[in-house]
Amino acid sequence: MKILALETSCDETSAAVVKDGNEVLSNVVASQVEFHRKYGGIVPEIASRKHIEVINPIIKEALEKANASFEDIDAVAVTYGPGLVGSLLVGICAAKAISWSLDKPLIGVNHLEGHIYANFLAHQNSNNQIPITKQFPNSKSQNPKFPFVCLIVSGGHTLLVLVKDHGKYQTLGHTRDDAAGEAFDKVARFLNLGYPGGPIIDKLAKEGNPRAVDFTRPMLEGYDFSFSGIKTAVVNLILKTENRKPKTEDLVASFQQAVVDVLVEKTIRAAKEYGGLSIALAGGVAANSLLRNQLKEKAKDEKLKVFIPPLAYCTDNAAMIGAAAFFKYQRKDFSDFSLSPLASASI
Ligand code: KG4
Ligand code: ZN
Repeated sequence: MKILALETSCDETSAAVVKDGNEVLSNVVASQVEFHRKYGGIVPEIASRKHIEVINPIIKEALEKANASFEDIDAVAVTYGPGLVGSLLVGICAAKAISWSLDKPLIGVNHLEGHIYANFLAHQNSNNQIPITKQFPNSKSQNPKFPFVCLIVSGGHTLLVLVKDHGKYQTLGHTRDDAAGEAFDKVARFLNLGYPGGPIIDKLAKEGNPRAVDFTRPMLEGYDFSFSGIKTAVVNLILKTENRKPKTEDLVASFQQAVVDVLVEKTIRAAKEYGGLSIALAGGVAANSLLRNQLKEKAKDEKLKVFIPPLAYCTDNAAMIGAAAFFKYQRKDFSDFSLSPLASASI
């Protein structure tokens, strides 16, 4: 079965056609980053207007790339939250219109749930390319087995979730202040490195010494996180040291190392405490090379299995929404036309 999925929760307009919950026939993503860059962050009003401009061409392109027409679609999925209300509204209205006119089920998907399901998409091309089409015979066996632990790290969220079954989640911990991606973006903005900060810091850190500055790793009790302290420590270091301040490369490498140490330690600890569970990584910060490598290494030491989606499925995309929607379809968990944006939806 084929699901047309839409994702417009933030600043990416994305449409995808996903077959049987794991085969990506197309996944088109239009980034608005150029329009927001000069403001150093996302301007919600600009985001929703840009979604309106491109949503129809993006849907058309996704269908064309999937070699499908509207008639081939069995259900329409869309992100309903969390996210920016104006942005979410554009995707929801488009999805409702398509569902209504085709008389096919509408499936509202939680954005965070979508991120988790990026781990269920066929990993046919781990070369960081968008894996498009073609049956991948072993893909189903590559899915994480329930229960597993999922670390969701994005610009808006940082949480550790125990995924018990399809649609059954228990949040073990979450950030008490900044999300990990938010901390990357804010540090980069303070250092005038550009926007979004995550990928820029990731790249620059490769030229720096991660041990140059020993930032305190905030290990709150349990599985909660806190990143604003590390961010403030970076700012204070710059403001207070003037001529003696460390090289930017060293600073960002040390900052990144501190954030990743906390993320990896808590995730591994959770996987062990819950009985040696597999670990899945999700969200935009899952694109971070240090996080990916360190998590893989530490998990290997502990003999834990790790699932990491290809880069294109870590940052916001509609394919992950299509994957989550497939399992909701099987449970007949459909939405009606009262589906509305939920800015702070949780899972
Ligand atoms: O999941 P996502 O695309 O959107 C949200 O739902 O927030 O995540 C975006 C976040 C941004 O904060 C961005 O800086 C961060 O993911 N990010 C990264 C990397 N690539 C994207 N952070 C660290 N390293 C990266 N390579
Ligand atoms: Zn996201």
